Amino acid sequence: MLVTIVGTQLGDEGKGGIVDVFGGDADVVVRYQGGDNAGHTVVEGDEEYKLSLVPSGAVRGKVTLLGNGCVVNPATLFDEIDALRERGLEPDVRVAARAHVILPVHRLFDGIEEVAKGDLAAGTTKRGIGPTYEDKAARRGVRVGDLLDPEVLRERLSYLLKQKHDIATEVYGHEPGSELDLESTIEKCHEFAERLRTEEMVVDAGPFLEERIEAGANVMFEGAQGTSLDIDHGIYPYVTSSNASAGGVCTGTGLGPTTVGSGAVVGIIKAYLSRVGTGPLPTELGGVEGQTPDYEPGSDDDEAETLARRIRDEGGEYGTVTNRPRRVGWLDMPMLRHATRVNGLTGVVINHLDVLAELDVVRVGHSYRLDGEERLTMPATTERWGDCEAVFREFDGWPAIDPDAITDAGYDGLPAGARAYVAYIIDELDVELHAVGVGPARDDTIVRSNPFQ
Ligand code: IMP
Repeated sequence: MLVTIVGTQLGDEGKGGIVDVFGGDADVVVRYQGGDNAGHTVVEGDEEYKLSLVPSGAVRGKVTLLGNGCVVNPATLFDEIDALRERGLEPDVRVAARAHVILPVHRLFDGIEEVAKGDLAAGTTKRGIGPTYEDKAARRGVRVGDLLDPEVLRERLSYLLKQKHDIATEVYGHEPGSELDLESTIEKCHEFAERLRTEEMVVDAGPFLEERIEAGANVMFEGAQGTSLDIDHGIYPYVTSSNASAGGVCTGTGLGPTTVGSGAVVGIIKAYLSRVGTGPLPTELGGVEGQTPDYEPGSDDDEAETLARRIRDEGGEYGTVTNRPRRVGWLDMPMLRHATRVNGLTGVVINHLDVLAELDVVRVGHSYRLDGEERLTMPATTERWGDCEAVFREFDGWPAIDPDAITDAGYDGLPAGARAYVAYIIDELDVELHAVGVGPARDDTIVRSNPFQ
C-alpha cells in the first residue's frame, strides 16, 4: 500500500506529526521534493524532534529516503543524523543518486537574490533551495551521484563556480569568499562523499522503491511545504521551487502515476491558515510587519489584531526553521478546493482544532468575491488572488478541548461546534476524514480511519 501525505495550504499544516501517526504502518518513508527548508516537529512521548531534511519516519526507526526530487544539503543531513544518534536513535537514511546537492554557493545566492529582488522576494528560508533547483533546470547542477566521482565533480564544479563567481562579483558586486572557491568546495564535497560511501547511503530511488513495493512494503510519501507553495500550482512567485503537490511524487521518486495513484492521497489541513513570507492572503487576520503587504503596526482594527495574536500564540505560529512570526488567517475554502483537485485527494486530516477553541465565533472563507461575482476556487494568478475578497461563513465557537479526555472518547467526544466545523469541511471537499488533531503529541490525534488499511 502506498500513502501520499501532502500539505493543502501554505506549509506548516502539521504533516510531520501525521506522517508519524500513520507512519507506524509504513516500512519506508520517502521525501520527494524540497530540502532543509521544511520544518517538521515530531513529538514522541516526552521527546520533541525538529527535523528539516531527514524524513520524520526516522524517529520511528523506518527506512527513510530522500528522493531524486529533493535538494540535499549534506551538512544538514549529517548534522540531523548525528543529533538523532546522540539521542539514542538509529536513523536509516538513504539518498537518491539523482538528487541535487545544495552547495555553499547556493545559500550565498539565496541571500544575494532575495535582497536584490526587493518586492518580488518570496521571503525564502535562505537555505539555497531556489538557486539549487535553478541550477538543476539549467543543467549545471551537482547531483549526489556526482559527489562519488571526483573527476565528474571537478568538471561540474569548475563550470558552476566560475559562472557563479562572475555573476556574484560582476552583477552583484559581491566580495568573493570560500563559497565561490573551487578547491575548498571540492574538499567539502570529498568529505561528504566519504561519509555517504562509508554509510552506504546512496541509492537509485526508483528501483530501490520498486523492489520494496514488489516485496509488499508499505510506503509513505511525505510532502514538504504545501500545495499553495508549489512552483506550478501555488501563489507564484511567493512559492518554493519544487512540486510540493502529489504530482511531485512521480517525478521526485521514479515511480509512475499509476503506481502512486494506486494508493491513498491524504491532504493535511490546518483548521486555520498560517503563512511565512510575503504576498496576498485574502482571509488574513491582523498583519505581520515586513510580511503582510502594506501593513504597518496598529493599522488593523483591535479585534483582528487581538485574534491574530491569540491564534499565533496558541498555535505556536513561529517558523520552525527561521523563528519568524507567521501570518495567520481564517480557513480558506477556495484554497482547499484547489488542493483537492491538484492532488486528487482521497482523504484529509484536520489539525489544530484545539487552537480555535474558546472563540465566540469561528469564521471560514467560504468563497471569494471577485469583480462583483462569487467564485469557489482560486484564480490562476496571485495578483488576481490578491484582488479577491473573502466571503465568510460563521460557526459557533467551542469550549477548550482536553486532548486526553477527547482522545479517549473519540470523535464523538469533540464539542458539537468543532464537529459541525469539521463536517462542513468534509462535505465541501467530498473526501474521507482520516483524523482530527487536537494537540501536538501523537496521542492527541483522533484517528477515524487509517489510510494504510
Ligand atoms: P524557499 O523554499 O526557502 O525557497 O522559500 C520559498 C517560500 O516558501 C517562502 O515564502 C518560504 O517561507 C516558504 N516555505 C518554504 N518552506 C516552508 C515550510 O516548510 N513551511 C512554510 N513555508 C515554507
